Amino acid sequence: MAGRVIAIDGPAASGKSSVSRGVAAALGWFFVSSGHFYRAIAWGTVRDQISSNSPDSLIAWIATRKLTLLEDEDPTKGVSLLLDGENASPHLSDSQVATTVSVIAAMPAVRDFINARLRALSENHDLVMEGRDIGSVVFPLTPWKFYLDASPEVRARRRASEGAIDTVSERDRLDSTRATAPLTVPPGAIVIDTTHLTLDQVIQTALEHLHLPELTTG
Ligand code: CDP
Repeated sequence: MAGRVIAIDGPAASGKSSVSRGVAAALGWFFVSSGHFYRAIAWGTVRDQISSNSPDSLIAWIATRKLTLLEDEDPTKGVSLLLDGENASPHLSDSQVATTVSVIAAMPAVRDFINARLRALSENHDLVMEGRDIGSVVFPLTPWKFYLDASPEVRARRRASEGAIDTVSERDRLDSTRATAPLTVPPGAIVIDTTHLTLDQVIQTALEHLHLPELTTG
């Protein structure tokens, strides 16, 4: 791992994306939502009518997929994903994607495909990467790990206020109980309960734990 990585994991709507963007902006590091990668693949299965109930056809399908990463000049905007040349961004919040993503994310072939691309990003970037298994599986050796959580009521309310139709509790159940890379508090992670904190308070709390040269003044 050439670049440094801050891993931010946690359940759906715990604030990971907003906090990760804020931390990335404070440091000038590159923001990456690993969930976007899973959502892009989930959208591809919907587009190509690949059944998530058929692991064999999904394994054959993913082996021939071409995922292209387009980097924005602004590092905090992260990457856009093209699947077979088609921009996945407009589709990532589709309701069919929300219902499919945790099913396909449980498959080791999908995780291997995505993890290779997530790790490659660290070869030439300092990253703030958010997801479910970043500190536990993707970058287990990084010294900077956070786990964000919030009460189920607050998380459901946050997602509803974004206007998204989502299946937060069902995805949490699938993500926490799967055999491969389940959602868990990574060893050594700092746990932040965001239930009663503002976004700025969570970002400041995370920054205070980092002790990075970028953050020292004078
Ligand atoms: O934004 P939210 O936390 O609701 O979800 P997301 O980060 O966009 O992730 C969508 C889904 O992708 C999750 O519910 C997981 O099933 C899967 N995922 C995963 O398995 N591992 C990751 N590192 C990131 C996402």
